[in-house]
Amino acid sequence: MRDDGFHDLVTVYHAVSLLDQVRASAADDLTLTVAGEGEGELPVAEDNLAVKAARALANFAGVQPAARLELTRSIPVAGGLAGGSADAAATLVACDALWQTDLDRAALLMVAATLGSDVPFLLVGGTALGTGRGERVAPVLSEGTYHWVLALAVGGLATPRVYAEIDRRRAAAPLLGAGAPDELLASLRTADPVALGRLLVNDLEPAAVALHPVLRRTLAAGREHGAVGALVSGSGPTCAFLARSAEHAPRLAAALSADGVCRTVRVVEGPVSGARLVC
Ligand code: C5P
Repeated sequence: MRDDGFHDLVTVYHAVSLLDQVRASAADDLTLTVAGEGEGELPVAEDNLAVKAARALANFAGVQPAARLELTRSIPVAGGLAGGSADAAATLVACDALWQTDLDRAALLMVAATLGSDVPFLLVGGTALGTGRGERVAPVLSEGTYHWVLALAVGGLATPRVYAEIDRRRAAAPLLGAGAPDELLASLRTADPVALGRLLVNDLEPAAVALHPVLRRTLAAGREHGAVGALVSGSGPTCAFLARSAEHAPRLAAALSADGVCRTVRVVEGPVSGARLVC
């Protein structure tokens, strides 16, 4: 662990088509509503990362933090899919447009990094190499479209708990990720899911499985049903399965669903863009 409590890591980020939507409209003060995943569960005041993002942007740009934010969520809470970070990135983009702060990319990325390790990537999207605590992001070349099945779990995992479990399991906590993942980056240029799938690995997975043991069954079921790659996403408990093809993905999803090894499934594809304006 670093002095600031974070862990140095090397990670390959990959944005997939499971989206939250943030609508920002003019208002006299800053308010937030949440619908969908996390409704009634997520905080809607200062603790919400979208509210923090709006305040951080207003502060940076020297404008009043006044907006009505409406969040429509599909990304599970505490699922290891960076949903809160996605909402923060989308709020930055939405409020930047609403307030016409007209910040350049570098400034937005700087504000994003103050909000969370994954937030800069959620602005960039696509496929990218993350270093530092995850906040330093460099886009990488990726060919083709990959088809994934996400197995959403019952309940969530708090990221700090998973990192604490990693620390407990490792006498000294070395860099997470085995340095520059050259083979994996090369495989992303082949558009071959089998080549990519066999290289997928997540150093946080043993800790997430220890805290959420049912994931062992979920991962095994995905492999049995022909996933060419299977891993816990981020700090879990969502599992991500790489399908052989666009046709294989819904079959894999149906088989996982029938096995009853997760709360629900989502068929997604990647890479997709980061947070962007839709109107
Ligand atoms: O940066 P973010 O707010 O997403 O991190 C949430 C928590 O996850 C941190 O407070 C820290 O406990 C843990 N974390 C870490 N090392 C990282 C990223 C996150 O220890 N590289």
